[in-house]
Amino acid sequence: MSDKLAGKVAFITGAGSGMGKAVALEFARNGAKIVAVDINKESVNNTCFEIGAENAFPIDGDISTADSVKRMCDEAIAHFGRVDILVNNAGILDNYLPVTETDEALWDKVLNVNLKSMFLTTRALIPQMVDGGGGVIINVASIAALVAGGGGAAYTASKHGVVGLTRQIAFDYGLKGVRANAICPGAVETGMTKDIFASDDVAVMAAVRSVPAGRYGKPEEIAKLALYLASEDASFVHGAAFVIDGGWTVK
Ligand SMILES: NC(=O)c1ccc[n+]([C@@H]2O[C@H](COP(=O)([O-])OP(=O)(O)OC[C@H]3O[C@@H](n4cnc5c(N)ncnc54)[C@H](O)[C@@H]3O)[C@@H](O)[C@H]2O)c1
Repeated sequence: MSDKLAGKVAFITGAGSGMGKAVALEFARNGAKIVAVDINKESVNNTCFEIGAENAFPIDGDISTADSVKRMCDEAIAHFGRVDILVNNAGILDNYLPVTETDEALWDKVLNVNLKSMFLTTRALIPQMVDGGGGVIINVASIAALVAGGGGAAYTASKHGVVGLTRQIAFDYGLKGVRANAICPGAVETGMTKDIFASDDVAVMAAVRSVPAGRYGKPEEIAKLALYLASEDASFVHGAAFVIDGGWTVK
């Protein structure tokens, strides 16, 4: 616990579960006010209940459409006055399907939720960050942004796109006071992965245990990296893609 984010307002997508929830709780413990966004209303209400009504505002909606993103960003600014930190975290998997088994609807859905959403929220929130003297953007990518095999064709393409978008935002807005960085987690135990990990699939378990850390990551471990990137401790960090994967990508 610290006051590293005191006075800051953080808009966090996918805050009802997994890493987004862990980031919301960690940021709140360190002084931030939280706008918790998720398509699942009950889960996002629960996150805000844990933080406390004074410091958390739940918004339910779909981050993959422009109208919905505009509504949510407007509601956030109406409630807390501004947004200083944007954490683009919500994402979905593609069932590890190769190109020939990926239909157009799945491709569009995965690209829209995982990548287009980040363009939409950034476009909506960056102007008021720049006007207010700056801000921080943290985009949750994946090791699938760096190597093949962390997802299927659509997921891997979307996550590679997240790192590219993050670098371009850092390039375009750094001098205007906005720091943008990406986080590339390896296998982390969350709502997204619980069924895969629970299945005890021999290949999956072997892959997870073969990493140097020998285990899955915990959402709270990712949240600590997000706290660093959101805080002034990372004041010289722009456009980086931080790998936090228990060593998955060392080979
Ligand atoms: N779990 C892992 O092993 C892992 C590894 C690398 C990267 N990631 C990435 O981390 C991020 C968080 O995933 P997680 O593992 O915490 O998963 P999760 O399923 O626990 O959480 C994702 C949240 O996003 C929300 N969401 C999904 N679609 C949405 C939409 N259209 N609009 C608004 N909210 C939506 C879900 O309701 C859910 O609460 C994702 O971008 C994921 O790709 C996860």
